[in-house]
Amino acid sequence: MSSITIAYHSGYGHTKKVAEAVAGGIASVTGVTVTILDVTKVEEPIGEFASGWEALQASDGILFGTPTYMAGPSAPFKTFADSTVKIWFERKWKDKVAGGFTNSGSNAGDKGSTLSALFALAAQHEMIWVTLGVRNDGTTNKNGYYQGLGTQSDNASPEETPNAAELDTSSQFGVRFGEAVNRWVKGA
Ligand SMILES: Cc1cc2nc3c(=O)[nH]c(=O)nc-3n(C[C@H](O)[C@H](O)[C@H](O)COP(=O)(O)O)c2cc1C
Repeated sequence: MSSITIAYHSGYGHTKKVAEAVAGGIASVTGVTVTILDVTKVEEPIGEFASGWEALQASDGILFGTPTYMAGPSAPFKTFADSTVKIWFERKWKDKVAGGFTNSGSNAGDKGSTLSALFALAAQHEMIWVTLGVRNDGTTNKNGYYQGLGTQSDNASPEETPNAAELDTSSQFGVRFGEAVNRWVKGA
């Protein structure tokens, strides 16, 4: 089995909904397990692991997810990212597969800056980055991000938004990421 952890922050539940849709796509891939980790609870036990850090270390792939706040990752996500510096020193995430997603209120809203920050985080950890792989066909990937997943939500509750097309794009990204991790692990 390959294992993937989705390390996300969500202030108001929209990015959490995206994380769950990505996880649904991953879970549909044979031979992959997926754990959803709220990075503000990374010190707490999760599943069979004593902490989120242990779950992350045991993973073959890690997806980073954050809302875009003021043109970048949210402060809680950045706190998590900064606290990986010891892992960076020890190169403990080297060659894990990585990808990223962000949700924001505008169609663009500077999501590209956030995705670039997530990519740079993965690159500093010497990880293997997986791009979105979902075309903008007028419905899916309507915001046209390719570096990672960039979804949009309206100013309404997470029960209503992001919409079905955004969640479908999220699920397709999950499938692609799960398959990529499987290939990487199989070839090891
Ligand atoms: C502090 C703050 C900053 C924000 N900055 C942006 C921004 O730069 N671009 C944008 O499109 N939306 C921005 N938004 C809107 C959020 O990205 C949007 O509400 C998103 O759905 C929040 O996700 P969450 O529910 O997972 O926290 C901002 C919201 C907050 C609270």
